[in-house]
Amino acid sequence: MSGNKTFSMIKPGAVRNKHIGHILSKIEEAGYTIAAIKTFKMTIDMAAEFYAVHKDRPFYQELISFMSSGPIVAMVLLKENAVEDFRKLIGATDPEKAEEGTIRKLFATSKTANAIHGSDSDENAERESSFFFSRQEYLRSEQVI
Ligand code: CMP
Repeated sequence: MSGNKTFSMIKPGAVRNKHIGHILSKIEEAGYTIAAIKTFKMTIDMAAEFYAVHKDRPFYQELISFMSSGPIVAMVLLKENAVEDFRKLIGATDPEKAEEGTIRKLFATSKTANAIHGSDSDENAERESSFFFSRQEYLRSEQVI
């Protein structure tokens, strides 16, 4: 069982393909409250910092170049067992391996352009939320439910 908060980003490809509305509907239908949300275009340095944990992986340069190629939608999402349930909702990193009905199966076009990010632990949900939202915005968001 994870905590009641996760962080998510709709990635530039899904924003360009006009899937924001569809993806937000799926998230709300799954029981999440969107407690904080904003569109934002990352610089390459910001994307490099956000994904620093992957800096030695072969896909890192492609990932940070893609993530800074256009606006993303950053969100703090609230629900019981938020992190674990969200990773089921979005599906596997590789859209070809994602289950039918998951957000990545529906909207991703490749492993890099995989439509959406979701935190992989409660600790990263905190770190990633505070990367995009000020402490004041972020703490206020938790009072939504
Ligand atoms: P995300 O959930 O944002 O977290 C890290 C990202 O790295 C991941 O989604 C993918 O977009 C990307 N990624 C992970 N593994 C690979 C891979 N093997 N090839 C290309 N990109 C990958």
